[in-house]
Amino acid sequence: MSGTKTTETATTEAWWRQAVVYQVYPRSFADGNGDGIGDLAGILARLDHLVALGIDAVWLSPFYPSALVDGGYDVDDYMDVDPRIGTLDELDRLVAALHAHGIRVLVDLVPNHSSDRHEKFRAAVAAGPGSPERDLYVFRDGRGEHGELPPAEWSSLMGDPAWTQVPDGQWYLHLFTKEQPDWNWANPAVHAYFRDVLRFWGDRGVDGFRVDVANGLTKRLEADLPTQQELDTPGTFPVGDHPLFDRDDVQDVYREWRAVFDEYDPPLMAVAEAWVTPDRRLRYTASGGLDQAFGFDLLRGTWDSAVFRRIIEESYALAERAGVPATWVFSNHDVVRHATRYGLVGGGDENDWLLSRGAHPAEDRDLGLRRARAATMLALALPGSAYLYQGEELGLPEVMVPDEQRQDPVFWRKGGKEIGRDGCRVPLPWTKDGSSFGFGSGGAHLPQPDWFRHYAVDLQEQDPASTLHLYRRALALRRRLQADARLDWLELGDGVVAFRRPGGWCSVTNFGTAPVALPRATVLLASDVRGLHDGSLGPDTTVWLDLDGPAGTTQEA
Ligand code: NOJ
Ligand code: CA
Repeated sequence: MSGTKTTETATTEAWWRQAVVYQVYPRSFADGNGDGIGDLAGILARLDHLVALGIDAVWLSPFYPSALVDGGYDVDDYMDVDPRIGTLDELDRLVAALHAHGIRVLVDLVPNHSSDRHEKFRAAVAAGPGSPERDLYVFRDGRGEHGELPPAEWSSLMGDPAWTQVPDGQWYLHLFTKEQPDWNWANPAVHAYFRDVLRFWGDRGVDGFRVDVANGLTKRLEADLPTQQELDTPGTFPVGDHPLFDRDDVQDVYREWRAVFDEYDPPLMAVAEAWVTPDRRLRYTASGGLDQAFGFDLLRGTWDSAVFRRIIEESYALAERAGVPATWVFSNHDVVRHATRYGLVGGGDENDWLLSRGAHPAEDRDLGLRRARAATMLALALPGSAYLYQGEELGLPEVMVPDEQRQDPVFWRKGGKEIGRDGCRVPLPWTKDGSSFGFGSGGAHLPQPDWFRHYAVDLQEQDPASTLHLYRRALALRRRLQADARLDWLELGDGVVAFRRPGGWCSVTNFGTAPVALPRATVLLASDVRGLHDGSLGPDTTVWLDLDGPAGTTQEA
């Protein structure tokens, strides 16, 4: 697919088509008031960090009032800020401050489920069976003589049963924890409510949304519900007509939202979180609804040139069909950080590593970081949008949080069968010394290991070879070099992924174990200068070259 052109030029295209979006998980970014929980005041105080990085946008994970059963993805009120995180006024100030630096803001929209403390769910429980209030959620009578059995024996994605009974005997559906009841998207009132939510944020000046569980929302629940096994077995239902997930008709919701997005100038943008196959992902952006969908394929892929090359080619073919550039993601608040994933050696994957509490496979942190830096540079050179997760610019590895301090319901409700996501949510280290390494004056809500100090922002500021400086340089160069969303493959041998972008910008990654010869060109940036020797590139390293510039081996940036 050499020479594919998927967008117009950078100057005329919508801002998000080739953007770098940085995810802030507010509770773990910076704590302004010393209560151990990150907050908006903390983000405002660390604005310089975001500005210096050179990102195009910030995606804020949920900051809404929440009991924090699922890290804030249990939303009590979609139109407010949790008092522990700040106020709406502070949020306005944060948005204005980011905008003043040309940084756009995406907020996290959670439309599949609310929390059980949402006023509409409370009203649904209070109003009783058959009421309009109850019909905003998915309620059913139980089975058995007295309705004492759930409508179906399904388990939620968090481990506990997917149906929970309320005092009057009816049951409600929740794909996640019982504190996260699913909205009933068959009810037009739910559609109207979410249009209000979109406008609430659009009117406040945010630039768009990250859509949580975008492959949820609409459901087909007939009188006879399928079994869990039927739900789980591919092929039981026609593609696009699964009772619970990735239904074709969910695109009707997004087309409806598109009309709301287009009320704004520029239109609001939205990126879908949908863990679906790449060909199904296409629908989320090609149906006149949402703008982008996270591409999780590299995130799930191993460190292997053939794997990377295949995923990139597939993503491009899809991007072309959808008419929107691809997106690239290695880390977020739901997965083991990529600096750890790429450093696991000796067989097995990150789940084995979590389950063995870090015993096996062994973690080689140097190797993991070297590969993570190389992977990130590769992705930043690709056309399309890159989504970064807070802390990856520090090269942070995953933290093995002690069991008793884990917060993730996945760990507790699956009885330890899954370890959960706390290890990538540990509050950031800003300073090598001090309380919670500069996160705040009152400790950190998840324990930071002592080795966190080595990754602190203040230390990395002093070290020109640090991951932080690498990210800053790479983002600055990308901004300068980014042009048409076009890519031409270069064949530089086995174990190498190399491609050229318009204007002579070229990225070469060596996945192999021996050095590879580089074309004669100016070196713009290397993920690790130790990998550059006399015109060759060492293992686990990415270099950006200017093929049209004079040949030379010094790093320009
Ligand atoms: C996806 C979010 O990223 C994750 O953190 C959350 O647990 C589920 N959706 C449920 O909202
Ligand atoms: Ca706080």
